[in-house]
Amino acid sequence: MYNSIKLTDNVHWVGVNDKETDLFESLWPLPEGIAYNSYIIEDEKVALIDTVKINYNDTLISKIKGIIGDKSVDYLIINHMEPDHSGSIKSLLEAYPEMTIIGNKKTLEFLEGFYGITKNTRVIADGDQLDLGSRKLTFYITPMVHWPETMMTFDEKEQILFAGDAFGGFGSLNGYLFDDEVNIDFFEDEIRRYFSNIIGKFGPVVHKTIERLKSELDIKMIASTHGLVWRENPNYIIEEYDKWSQQQTDEGVVVVYGSMYGNTKIMAEVVARSLSEHGIEDIKLYDVSRKDISFIINSIWKYNGIVLGSCTYNNEIFPPMEYLLKSLEIRNLKNRVLGIFGSYSWSGGALDRLIEFKDLVTCNITEPMIESKFSPDHDNLEKCYELGKNVAEAVKANNNC
Ligand code: FEO
Repeated sequence: MYNSIKLTDNVHWVGVNDKETDLFESLWPLPEGIAYNSYIIEDEKVALIDTVKINYNDTLISKIKGIIGDKSVDYLIINHMEPDHSGSIKSLLEAYPEMTIIGNKKTLEFLEGFYGITKNTRVIADGDQLDLGSRKLTFYITPMVHWPETMMTFDEKEQILFAGDAFGGFGSLNGYLFDDEVNIDFFEDEIRRYFSNIIGKFGPVVHKTIERLKSELDIKMIASTHGLVWRENPNYIIEEYDKWSQQQTDEGVVVVYGSMYGNTKIMAEVVARSLSEHGIEDIKLYDVSRKDISFIINSIWKYNGIVLGSCTYNNEIFPPMEYLLKSLEIRNLKNRVLGIFGSYSWSGGALDRLIEFKDLVTCNITEPMIESKFSPDHDNLEKCYELGKNVAEAVKANNNC
């Protein structure tokens, strides 16, 4: 028998856990899986909010039938068209052919583009309402949180915000569903990893959306398409999300190095030791070749200091470091203390690219910049120590750009 979970007497979680997919969007590792959350409201009319990935369509329909029996789903509300949420729409239409699909103008373009569906649809605009009998649902169009068609749905009676991807993250639901049922540390970290890698580029838009939600709605519960339902303390995740959207950070330093034979690694370790000796308690030290970039970006989104060091490869920066730099540039990284160093054996390249990166993300460099030829000598390592000390002082003073 499939299980559903009650949010309230008439609102149920009918989502699924995916522990089979290794890479979300074929990019982001899922060491603890992911949940696709779908919700059903059983009123005089029955409304389903979002579906699940196509692999789980039978499970979703079984869960729905377990709640409404032989009744039909009257409305399918699509907050987000990415296929991890829209993949089961066709199956639902087969099960409930009279169902009306509710979305905004862009949603319906995507619905036709992905699935060829043009019938049984109703277009809504921002602020429109849908009457289910004892309650009305209000729609808020929230483009780029995460795609252009994204929107949110607010149940005024229960004061539940069905938020699409917003406030959601990686990690499957291992028996628990609500924020008051589990230690939230893991989920907070995975929500930040989701946000920084997938939505972080659109931070200013997210911030404006949150400002609007805070001013217009009295939210008692947040039901995202991924991860926990926040019923005890929805404001906690709203404030954290808003902080990340504005690139507000905690005190700490992320040191990332790219090293083929250990010379650049030694420099990074001296910087990290100096950071520790100068009072930085949160230090992350990553080998860019071996730590998946999504975890590195997550840490960079958390802390106010970064130090990047790279060897040179074929007269250019080490390729995994280039991937990281590009990823940070397109996410418009800002407000960080930044230190850089490089190494080479017969011609430079790495440090030049790190300087270019510094200009693109408009962070001021904390001196000294260091460039080592062959193995770092005593003078190079002294400068690495000095760099660690200076970055520590700047981080503690929150002296970023
Ligand atoms: Fe969970 Fe943007 O899809």
